[in-house]
Amino acid sequence: SNVSYTELYRPQYHYTPARNWINDPNGLVYADGTYHMYYQYNPGGDTWGAMSWGHASSKDLTHWKEQPVALLARGYPDNITEMFFSGSVVIDQNNTSGFGNKGDAPWVAMYTSYYPLQQVLPSGKQVRDQQQAQSIAYSLDHGATWTTYDEHNPIILDPPAPYQDQYLDFRDPNIFWYQPIKKWVAVISLAKLHKLLIYTSPNLRQWSLESEFGPFNAVGGVWECPNLFPLPLDGDESKVKWVAIVGLNPGGPPGTVGSGIQYFVGDFNGSTFTPDLNSIHGGDKDSERTRSFANSPATDDNANWLDWGPDFYAAQAYNGLPQDQRTIISWMNNWQYGATIPTSPWRSAMSIPRQLSLKTIDQKIAVVQEPKESWKAITEAGNVSTVPSVTGVHRLGEIGKAVDIQLTFPSREAATNGSSEFGIIVRASEDFSQQTRVGYDFATQQVFINRTISGDVSFDSTFASAYYAPLSPATDNTVTLHIFVDWSSVEVFGGQGQTTITTQIFPSDNATYAQLFSTGGSTNNVQLSISKVRSTWT
Ligand code: FRU
Repeated sequence: SNVSYTELYRPQYHYTPARNWINDPNGLVYADGTYHMYYQYNPGGDTWGAMSWGHASSKDLTHWKEQPVALLARGYPDNITEMFFSGSVVIDQNNTSGFGNKGDAPWVAMYTSYYPLQQVLPSGKQVRDQQQAQSIAYSLDHGATWTTYDEHNPIILDPPAPYQDQYLDFRDPNIFWYQPIKKWVAVISLAKLHKLLIYTSPNLRQWSLESEFGPFNAVGGVWECPNLFPLPLDGDESKVKWVAIVGLNPGGPPGTVGSGIQYFVGDFNGSTFTPDLNSIHGGDKDSERTRSFANSPATDDNANWLDWGPDFYAAQAYNGLPQDQRTIISWMNNWQYGATIPTSPWRSAMSIPRQLSLKTIDQKIAVVQEPKESWKAITEAGNVSTVPSVTGVHRLGEIGKAVDIQLTFPSREAATNGSSEFGIIVRASEDFSQQTRVGYDFATQQVFINRTISGDVSFDSTFASAYYAPLSPATDNTVTLHIFVDWSSVEVFGGQGQTTITTQIFPSDNATYAQLFSTGGSTNNVQLSISKVRSTWT
């Protein structure tokens, strides 16, 4: 193939397919020492289209190998009768499904079948045009090739009454094994109703509805791509809480346009997810629980946002890892402008894998994220320094296009007028007319990324914006920003990772300069570390 992985904007340490369109990660599963990542993929072009499951694998969550398409849209290319929308994969260790043979555990995928046309399926079931229903497929060769369960698919044809007829948006099953009841659990979204439905099954084929969750907190657009998983609180395995994450499109974090992810912390008993009362905001909790979607606001300032930037969507957690290594990957793009970003011959990248934990910070339970790659294998020895004082700007020269930056600085009094900010400008042209700012606002205690003049911003009118997220200084009154710059993205992890902002940028090839900045006064005793990140493709 003539793909070099050195094209303008090609991410060097974020996954991209050689060519074509991708969206949501699907079927994240770790088995036999290999991380698998399936994903929404259009084999036929660089916009959303003939949705299939693409496939990549990795030994270290860092270096990825693109694999052959796992589930190709049925009837592709000319006469598509079924697309494979988002879903998940489990290893059926005890062969509960009966798909296994010769004692080797079958792999089972559950996904949403999208039927563009009304039809009678091989199973004899009839579907309406544009219906979404849940189906399964199995693999007997450890995830390489898949057989759809045509005898009975879709295995969940309709959502329950009374939702059945009005709403076709029923999708994105997230499945996992729940040992206390020895059953499989599936969380499926009723997208337009802002509800999650929870089903259980002994065998992955027959599913019973157990409960529904929502609408709560942010309810813009639709709810999709749910995930539900346990995490120990403050590292204590005897205090396990459950986290539900929900994609919204549109209706992402305040100040963004398009898609985003909120989360809820609560408890799960095998049939019902109950959010902690203090993770459901608002004065009147009863009205929150029952309010109708029709008159809900598009964004909600009080929701718990998993990431405060515009380019972090459809996150999914790995199956097959211990719960203290819970790791997610998201689509690093946004439905607002996803199809017009100026990349070629691929479109869209995946986020850095992130390991999650649950920590009590400022008396509140927060999901904390830590970037997880084999950094030692891809970063060069860092340049660590202390900058005694920054007033105005402090030049750093050329630092490159793919860098891992860590900044720690004391919080300080905000000036009474004008801005009081400290941070770093990255991916700047030599004259700084092109630049991306990552910084901290001392007055509002917010971390931000400003991409208004970051390069090509012309393809969408909402792209040239700045994004803000709350972040209190640590107990020693310092602020830490861990910043990952790649050829077309900047991600910042604030504090312990309780606040993250993920943004795409499309700077010129020669935008390699950086400098520190301090406005509204001096920022002293700045700890700075800069490490170059090597390409994962070579
Ligand atoms: C979210 C989504 C999913 C759906 C998939 C289709 O990004 O809309 O709800 O399964 O994309 O490609």
